[in-house]
Amino acid sequence: MTTRFAGKLEVWWTRMRKESPLHYNREHQYWEVFRYEDVNRVLSDHHTFSSQNRRRQKEEPVFHDSILSLDPPQHTLLRSIVSRSFSPAFLREWEPRIRTIAKDLLLQTPPDFDLINHFAYPLPVTVIADMMGVPSKDQPMFRQWVDRLFTMENDPTNIRFADETKPDERKRIRSVQMDMKQYFRDIVHERKQRPQNDLISLLVDSHSHGQISEEEILSFCFLLLLAGHITTTNLIGNAVFSLAEDPETYRLVQKDHGHIPLFIEEVLRYHSPVRFVTRTAAHDVRLGGETLHAGETVVAWIASANRDEQVFDRPDRFIANRKPNPHLAFGKGIHFCLGAPLARMEAQIAMQALLSHWNRKEQIQIQEARPVKTVFLNGYEKLTIAS
Ligand code: HEM
Repeated sequence: MTTRFAGKLEVWWTRMRKESPLHYNREHQYWEVFRYEDVNRVLSDHHTFSSQNRRRQKEEPVFHDSILSLDPPQHTLLRSIVSRSFSPAFLREWEPRIRTIAKDLLLQTPPDFDLINHFAYPLPVTVIADMMGVPSKDQPMFRQWVDRLFTMENDPTNIRFADETKPDERKRIRSVQMDMKQYFRDIVHERKQRPQNDLISLLVDSHSHGQISEEEILSFCFLLLLAGHITTTNLIGNAVFSLAEDPETYRLVQKDHGHIPLFIEEVLRYHSPVRFVTRTAAHDVRLGGETLHAGETVVAWIASANRDEQVFDRPDRFIANRKPNPHLAFGKGIHFCLGAPLARMEAQIAMQALLSHWNRKEQIQIQEARPVKTVFLNGYEKLTIAS
């Protein structure tokens, strides 16, 4: 399969925003949306742009729809069950624990180290595992699952929906999902007997009150474990990559850690960890001068919106203290990322810990940067830092 663009995605998005901001991809039958204004509308108007995937599936999916692919009222109910656990006030209780994890990880790193393997992966995965109540000693297995789920071996640049995946790839993904489902099923059964103070027990409690089904608990677990770490791993990796790319920014944040929050927002904009989200048109609608028909799939390129010259001054420059910075990296509207306060807190703590660890370093040098193999996510699976 050939790729649809030559060179960097950013160059392709710039061209598409100018020449074909609402583009119908005939080969794969979906609309692609590139401009900030249009992406913002797709994300904000959930009545018109449904999160339910209406593309024909070849087999019964292993997991039922998660909160991500539900519309109200079921979406509202599911979100309300766990939303308190992700509020900034609740998360403050986790702050000391996250600092300790970050410090301990850095104590164990060798002089030349792979930032992803030693730090950016274990930090968020330990935190989400603790919050959910799954043993963090199972981390190596989670990583294998993620690698097997998100590696598009044949063509990492093309978006492929479940209905298009090749039989061998579909088999691989289903087998990982079945392993994950059994893993969570065992933990859910255990929590039914012995509830704890964790997210899975909270979901089990809602089940015992008849609010959600066991299938919904299992889908929620699947989503929380994955969404709770892969994106944050990428954010931390991308932040360090930005420091290596731009020594001036490194000096700025190293000198005054007070710059970290705005710096993280710029990393989210400039190197958006999630590149796109998808929706289905619920009815015919006019968007960006085109008519989209009911049932058609829409790919909203968040990462392109975050480089839109109509909204951001010098969008292709990394400006560490950019303000305002209305990026869409966490989405918008009713599906706005539930974990955004957690991800921001983890990334800020991670950067404080790393910058303190590197307080004698003049600059950050990267020996090897290996990008993740999927167009959906933007980040690195390996990022070796020179001593
Ligand atoms: C939703 C990005 C971290 C849990 C989303 C969406 C985006 C996103 C773009 C919206 C999807 C859509 O509209 O279809 C990110 C990024 C992260 C991050 C860039 C880190 C840098 C997290 C963390 C968690 C999390 C740490 C923790 C559990 C969720 C959940 C949803 C979601 C549950 C679904 C919300 C809903 O449908 O109402 N995320 N996320 N995310 N995220 Fe995150």
